[in-house]
Amino acid sequence: MTHGLINVSYIAATILFILALGGLSRHETARRGNLYGMLGMAIALLATILGSVKGNHALLAGALAVGALAGLQLALKVKMTQMPELVAILHSLVGLAAVLVGFANFMDPSADAGFTQTEKVIHEVEVYVGILIGAVTFSGSVIAFGKLSARISGKPLRLPGKHGLNLAMLVVTLWLGKVFLQQAAQGAGIIPLLLMTAVALVFGVHMVMSIGGADMPVVVSMLNSYSGWAAAATGFMLSNDLLIVVGALVGSSGAILSYIMCRAMNRKFLAVIAGGFGTGSGKTAVTAGEAGEVVSIDAAETAALLKSAREVMIVPGYGMAVAQAQHAVYELTRSLREKGVKVRFGIHPVAGRMPGHMNVLLAEARVPYDIVFEMDEVNEDFPNVDVSIVIGANDIVNPSAQEVPDSPIAGMPVLEVWKGKTTIVLKRSMATGYAGVENPLFHKDNTRMLFGDARESLEAVLKGI
Ligand code: TAP
Repeated sequence: MTHGLINVSYIAATILFILALGGLSRHETARRGNLYGMLGMAIALLATILGSVKGNHALLAGALAVGALAGLQLALKVKMTQMPELVAILHSLVGLAAVLVGFANFMDPSADAGFTQTEKVIHEVEVYVGILIGAVTFSGSVIAFGKLSARISGKPLRLPGKHGLNLAMLVVTLWLGKVFLQQAAQGAGIIPLLLMTAVALVFGVHMVMSIGGADMPVVVSMLNSYSGWAAAATGFMLSNDLLIVVGALVGSSGAILSYIMCRAMNRKFLAVIAGGFGTGSGKTAVTAGEAGEVVSIDAAETAALLKSAREVMIVPGYGMAVAQAQHAVYELTRSLREKGVKVRFGIHPVAGRMPGHMNVLLAEARVPYDIVFEMDEVNEDFPNVDVSIVIGANDIVNPSAQEVPDSPIAGMPVLEVWKGKTTIVLKRSMATGYAGVENPLFHKDNTRMLFGDARESLEAVLKGI
């Protein structure tokens, strides 16, 4: 493959990756976006294998086959609720690759052959930075995987003087960088590089261990961003333009996503990194003295209420994912619409456990896109809603975000379901949600609790309709 052809392939792949990101921003085009991404990656892989790899083709084919099979196996068996942990462990591989490529590149005498003195220094800085970001991404992602899959406790680790410890690691990293550049000029430098890698690995572990369960999705998206920058740094090391562009796309989109998630949870990004929020346990709420009574309702009464409603708003949350209730939700929607009831969905930006979690589930169940709305599009309409059905959601419909100034979720935007005529909440108990905050919605006069697994409850309601 000629150099020109490789460049053209890389440009085509870059365009396809940008189209993929554009496509993924809307339900209607998400499938197409995924296809563009797959095509872009296939072109990129082919161009790299046919163009840049000079020998060892059998070894490469073997490695590709093992990787492809492992990926396929994982993708086939992963459940939707396990997606964040899969993403976390995949990021760790990007970090590990950046570390290994960095060391290989440093030890390869031909990597900087023909470089001027300045180019050599720039190359060494690229190696150092690439390994640094890669190592933090690797160990941080492994811990994130452990926390998300409940192999490690969701409780934030609070070492005494943890900010001082982080600062000390930063200073040591900078100092080792200086020593590395001095030694590399004389043809050595592997010792400071290894020491820095060890410090970066410890830093990654400590950073993610200090973060509480509730903030984990933000951390995953932040690690996503790091993995992008690690890939971009590798791209600089290998003088591979495509890797630089793709790394920058992943790095910046991960950073933007982290920012959007923090805004929707009303959390400051730095406060997330500093850690300490959310324990990840759904403990039973203690009812405040002045709170109203909790009134429960059964499936038949719920069916009757829904049949007589004109406007119904469905608010899904994490519990819908746990119960895999999306198909029952679709059936309910269909039968209500057949009866002339206007049904809409209100989706909170951080409902569930990952961005777009609810949209993906509803799309899987073939709920029409045009009745699924974002929170801001429907929040004003609740006074006109006859019945709101909250399906396994808790924090995202918690009025204390607006009413209790010292609540941990104070200021978080929420769906104002309590402003509708009647709210029916489907959940199994009075347990709190991910933020561990009690929800006064359950005690409001116009709220009814339909206790039980969301899917079983919905199936019973469907029978009644
Ligand atoms: P949560 O507040 O976590 O509440 C989920 C509720 O679902 C629980 O209270 C639980 O109550 C119920 N539930 C669990 N399994 C159920 C089942 N099988 N059937 C019926 N109900 C079930 O969820 P949410 O309202 O979707 O809020 C999301 C939370 O995650 C927010 O705090 C948000 O900040 C956080 N978070 C989300 C993201 C993203 S990107 N989505 C990122 C970071 C953090 P029972 O145990 O009583 O059933």
